[in-house]
Amino acid sequence: MIGIVGLGKIGNYVLSGIIDKNLYSKDDVLLGLRRIEAKKEYEEKGYLTTLDLNTLFLKCNVIVLSVKPQNYDTIISYSRNIDFKNKCIISTIAGIDLETIQGDFKNGSIYRVMPNIGAALGKSVTTLCYTEKDELFETAKKVFETIGSVVEVNEYTLDKSVPLNGSMPAFIYMFIKDFIDVSVKNGLDYETSKNLILDTIVSSVEYYKESDKKINDLIIDVCSKGGITIAGLNEMYKNGFDDSIRACYQACLKRSDELKYKK
Ligand SMILES: NC(=O)c1ccc[n+]([C@@H]2O[C@H](COP(=O)([O-])OP(=O)(O)OC[C@H]3O[C@@H](n4cnc5c(N)ncnc54)[C@H](OP(=O)(O)O)[C@@H]3O)[C@@H](O)[C@H]2O)c1
Repeated sequence: MIGIVGLGKIGNYVLSGIIDKNLYSKDDVLLGLRRIEAKKEYEEKGYLTTLDLNTLFLKCNVIVLSVKPQNYDTIISYSRNIDFKNKCIISTIAGIDLETIQGDFKNGSIYRVMPNIGAALGKSVTTLCYTEKDELFETAKKVFETIGSVVEVNEYTLDKSVPLNGSMPAFIYMFIKDFIDVSVKNGLDYETSKNLILDTIVSSVEYYKESDKKINDLIIDVCSKGGITIAGLNEMYKNGFDDSIRACYQACLKRSDELKYKK
């Protein structure tokens, strides 16, 4: 039986993934909730639920933790005195490392994952790391493959790549939003601007993925000498585009360090 603790955005994506892809049936899923209204809501949808995480930890052999870091302490108050041998704990929680989780889920097989909201379309790019690659590795991987692709990394890479997968959708949306805003200010209508930008981003990404060309060559291909695009690019860089990206990446890592869980 699989237990999901925390049915927010990520918890719900995982729930939809494992049910829609037939990895688990509803009878084999137990949802760990903290509000009676949420319990009723999920029961009406035919799910087994509990407000007692102790029960969930005892019953389930696969446990997904998808609460916010600030709720971790409450969760682990239910994990004491349980032997998690042969149980797989998969944490989506940012900032709580494998060693800490291992200490709180004694003898469990511990996995950390970093999904992203591509999960809404079954297209999350999820990084996954572990304390030890044991027989429960495939189980952990399969759960997150129901919401997209899984990339095996070490813990250092998982932490340092959060800006590239977990946070990236927000950066992309901001880039799109700023281009829509400026084109609307210049007289284009919103829908036309949005469609042009979105379709162009999709085809640019697809071409980069399929092409053998280096990214610099792809940029050069669009920039004729003395042309329109190069004029735009030059302004981007004069106004600190690359500095802004570097600062953004470093700010994510700094904040991630600040948020690191301390007992
Ligand atoms: N969102 C993303 O794009 C993203 C990407 C990668 C990783 N993450 C990580 O994934 C985790 C979940 O993120 P999220 O965006 O899904 O958060 P969220 O939407 O805020 O959901 C968190 C859920 O945890 C529940 N919860 C809190 N304490 C609980 C408890 N004691 N027992 C049972 N449930 C409890 C909350 O319940 P209530 O409904 O009762 O408040 C809420 O539904 C976070 O640690 C985050 O760092 C998120």
